[in-house]
Amino acid sequence: MSEIQQKEYPSVQEMTDDQRIKIVKDIFASVTDKYDFLNRFLSGRRDIAWRKRTIMEMEFLNTHRFLDIATGTGDLALDCAKTYPEVKVTGVDFVQGMVDKGMEKVSDQNLLDKVKLKWGDATNLEFEDNSFDVTAIAFGIRNIPDKEKALSEMKRIIVPNGQVMVLELTTPEPGLWRTFYSFYLNGMLPKLAKLFTKNPAAYEYLADSIINFPTRKEFLKLMESIGLKNCRAIPLTFGVCTLYIGKK
Ligand SMILES: C[S@@+](CC[C@H](N)C(=O)[O-])C[C@H]1O[C@@H](n2cnc3c(N)ncnc32)[C@H](O)[C@@H]1O
Repeated sequence: MSEIQQKEYPSVQEMTDDQRIKIVKDIFASVTDKYDFLNRFLSGRRDIAWRKRTIMEMEFLNTHRFLDIATGTGDLALDCAKTYPEVKVTGVDFVQGMVDKGMEKVSDQNLLDKVKLKWGDATNLEFEDNSFDVTAIAFGIRNIPDKEKALSEMKRIIVPNGQVMVLELTTPEPGLWRTFYSFYLNGMLPKLAKLFTKNPAAYEYLADSIINFPTRKEFLKLMESIGLKNCRAIPLTFGVCTLYIGKK
């Protein structure tokens, strides 16, 4: 058995922030080649609809620039460039393997003049204040221990009245659907992932990180606490995913 198959991660509640950052880098470096397939498969292709919904809420009124944070293999960045051809798109991620995979897709789709993906850390962005109309992070904030810092960076780099968007997997309200969903997350998802990935522990971490993510009310409060205005949460697919939007 290879070393990677024996991986086990501590539970999210037991990890220190530094440990978590290391584990997140390790996880995404290990699932790069199967990432897109597993996203579609494990979400029943809902991830495509959730990103589409995010794109439809975007407003480009000033700089006509979009920053996709924790861009991974660039799906949100690519969708944005295809929906809004006049917009220049930048994406950053702190796992170079994901960025490289994303750039292959940008090139295959002939979008090199519109989309640029590069290495970057969400908690320390290299961009100047007020340089984008919209910034978004899709399925990334869950993995960042210092969410306040990441949100503050997002607010800093957008123009006044610009949009901060956070798309994230969440747990539905208590009830039958939540019971079924918890069974899927903890029971089925890691087993399904095991069939396709060298690192099934990554998908145990996924379930754990979703369960430990702040509630909708708590997350909206966090957005407001860093000075974002008109903050709202749009539940998607019965609350399995939530789109948060706030303005500077
Ligand atoms: C679940 S993937 C989401 C990728 C993409 N946004 C999507 O919609 O498929 C999470 C990504 O967040 C990245 N990430 C996590 N923490 C980060 C940080 N502090 N800075 C930059 N990227 C980060 C990971 O490397 C990974 O590629």
